[in-house]
Amino acid sequence: MKSKSLLLALTATVILQNPLGAHNPTWTDGIACIIYSHCTSCHNENGIAPFSLMTYDDVYQNRYSIAASVQAKSMPPFPASTRYRKYAHANTLSEHEIDDIVDWVNNFAPFGSASDIPTPPTYTSGYQLSDPDFIGQIPPYTVTSNSDVYRMFVIPVNNSVQQTIKSIEVYPGNREIVHHALVFQDTSTKPLTLDQNDPLPGYAAFGGTGSPSSKLLTVYTPGQGAFNFAPGFGAQMLPNTCIILQMHYPGGVSGQVDSTQIRIKYGPSTLRDVNTIAALNHHNTLTNGPLFIPANTVKTFYNKQNNLINRTLTGIMPHMHLIGTSIRAYCVTTTNDTIHLIDIPEWDFHWQYFYQFQKPILIPAGSVLYGEATYDNTDSNPHNPNNPPKDVSRGEGTEDEMFLIYMNLSNYQPGDTSIVIDTSGHYLHDASCFQTSGISENSYEDISVYPNPASDKIFTQGIIGECRFTLFDSEGKTILTGNTGPNVPVDIRHLTTGTYYLQLRTPKQEVIYKKIIRN
Ligand code: HEC
Repeated sequence: MKSKSLLLALTATVILQNPLGAHNPTWTDGIACIIYSHCTSCHNENGIAPFSLMTYDDVYQNRYSIAASVQAKSMPPFPASTRYRKYAHANTLSEHEIDDIVDWVNNFAPFGSASDIPTPPTYTSGYQLSDPDFIGQIPPYTVTSNSDVYRMFVIPVNNSVQQTIKSIEVYPGNREIVHHALVFQDTSTKPLTLDQNDPLPGYAAFGGTGSPSSKLLTVYTPGQGAFNFAPGFGAQMLPNTCIILQMHYPGGVSGQVDSTQIRIKYGPSTLRDVNTIAALNHHNTLTNGPLFIPANTVKTFYNKQNNLINRTLTGIMPHMHLIGTSIRAYCVTTTNDTIHLIDIPEWDFHWQYFYQFQKPILIPAGSVLYGEATYDNTDSNPHNPNNPPKDVSRGEGTEDEMFLIYMNLSNYQPGDTSIVIDTSGHYLHDASCFQTSGISENSYEDISVYPNPASDKIFTQGIIGECRFTLFDSEGKTILTGNTGPNVPVDIRHLTTGTYYLQLRTPKQEVIYKKIIRN
């Protein structure tokens, strides 16, 4: 067949040009497994991602944008730097997996041998907590806006005695629209009053619950399953507690209905209490407060907490609103050792996780906790809700800001730092897939293109020497090829507006994809 021999000839050329590409993954041998293990929990027919990646055709169609997003580490979404600190149950790709995806795209995305095909995962219902002690459900709620909606729902537990929460599962009623959820507990009547004052189910609120006595329990993000406190730990729940779910429904889902469930498993009262507190916060630990970011400024705030006793830290969750751009926390001990806790170099309000450590961390007595957070209140911040920018101060509203670093803290006991929460270092692969091991980071994100969006010329930064480039449109059609380098821009003036993918082949034979918007 003529077309087949042409394809073989092309493939042979690529292999000759790319002697470093020792392993040539195919869809059935390698790629499907990576996608099924790391992507399809959101990218399935009913998932929250805008398109499915369940089949070869789906992935083939989106191959350039997949290559660009895995190299940029924007997908799977995991904003914390795993160079700074490693976490339990972290859905990140290893360098090896990123390379496999990119090599596969470069080699014309071969299907491979049908006999190797792994079984696709199924995403029909199925609770992880099959025998919970408490089940609550929010009343059916119809989203009435095409912008992002944040809504609080109050679920009374009606527990007459104190209980210890071991696991919490947020089970989305409509997986297509439940972007994420914050779970709080509260013993006051304030949330119920707020709910009663709002004619629709639940009530509107943004950052917090609107009740000062609410305590954060955990955060749900899609694909996560049940949240289990570290082995031996749990959260005490006082009598007559209400659970409050803050649901985030993304833009563009008006008219859709959700009725999310919460399932709670209790443990023995001997479980050690986990106190989830904002140990670093904008109320009383800011060193250059108050939290106020004047219009058209970029400002960094610093946070400090001392007078600590020995504490065991099992998890951490930073929280800011929309104009926050980066946030970090660390601890300095009395012997001047620095313990890295978390670094989110590019804050994304939509992807907030409660990060659990691989093993609990001892915060030794006398240590000082530090936090740093930067806010960009200029019009060059695409997430700024105000254009032109307005002064921003601390508060609960969408357009206010926060600086909170929640921590799961318990009293320290010897042996705590040997407890294993999850040290596998890698998200478990789907059952029918092989396991790739080891996580290492690469430097693709150090190579950038600017300006982007652009309408004139695009420069590359971070590459030494010139490289070959190919520009693809969103359908994968080649639009332009040539050479580019630090002083040799890619001219895009004649292109129509839209999304493009720039493939760069560096002098070191690395292949890098960047998403480009022509505006
Ligand atoms: C936790 C859910 C989740 C996981 C896991 C996930 N995605 Fe996504 N993905 C999304 C959502 C939601 C969007 C839509 C954009 C957004 O909200 O960030 C998206 C968008 C994308 C896009 C479009 C990006 C763009 O620039 O427009 C690509 C490509 C993509 N995902 C690929 C992947 C791949 C490949 C994986 C696995 C390696 C993956 N995603 C894992 C939720 C997820």
